[in-house]
Amino acid sequence: MDRRPIIAGNWKMNKTVGEALSLVRDLRSLVSMVRDRVEVVVAPPFTALHPVGKALEDSNIGLAGQNCHWEPSGAYTGEISAPMLKEAGCTYVILGHSERRQYFGETDETVNRRALSAVKYGLVPILCIGETLKERESNQTLEVVRRQVRGALAGFAAAEVARFVIAYEPVWAIGTGKTATSDQAQEVHAFIREQLVELYDRRTADHVRIQYGGSVKPDNAADLLSKPDVDGALVGGASLKAADFAAIVKAAP
Ligand code: PGA
Repeated sequence: MDRRPIIAGNWKMNKTVGEALSLVRDLRSLVSMVRDRVEVVVAPPFTALHPVGKALEDSNIGLAGQNCHWEPSGAYTGEISAPMLKEAGCTYVILGHSERRQYFGETDETVNRRALSAVKYGLVPILCIGETLKERESNQTLEVVRRQVRGALAGFAAAEVARFVIAYEPVWAIGTGKTATSDQAQEVHAFIREQLVELYDRRTADHVRIQYGGSVKPDNAADLLSKPDVDGALVGGASLKAADFAAIVKAAP
């Protein structure tokens, strides 16, 4: 199955509008040569989405939000809705990032509700899952991943899920400089795909792109991306530097 690699930059709470525009100006030219071979996406903070979206018009770089609420509008101070992201130019929305789960009380259930709203308003979720160090050390990795996949996908039809992106991000590898080995990543990615076969069918499972995230850098990207079930990367720290992010994009097979 040929899945187009997808490399996404999760900027987290970084970059003012001015800084964001200067980063995408550099990125545009640096990644233009991969054309359609690799899908490239950036997820700036909410305030920069619209200007960055404008600056990316006619480029091969897509736009993602970093989260969205489950209601389209209402009294939810501090939240952003799926139709708002759509209007700002987003195609994707990152959901269930471990920092959201850890610091902002996200659960499999709220991630699922947010995903349902995202799809309803025409966004494609990038669903983040992954185990903590404690869970890995007590051999619970696959069980945790299984629960997170099933929780996030509750109520979705196969045709919807086929377009999703799942990001496997071991929590112990995020921002720590410790990456999973490519074999560790492949093992969990293959397991996630098997979950999709069980929940839906082989065809659907073969369509879903599964990214690896957690300290992806220019020097480890090619090895990770060479694995058969690693279909891309969700990049935090290294996505804040145009040259590093472009090097990761170019490392995609
Ligand atoms: P990192 O973050 O690349 O800085 O480890 C990845 C992520 O949180 O998506």
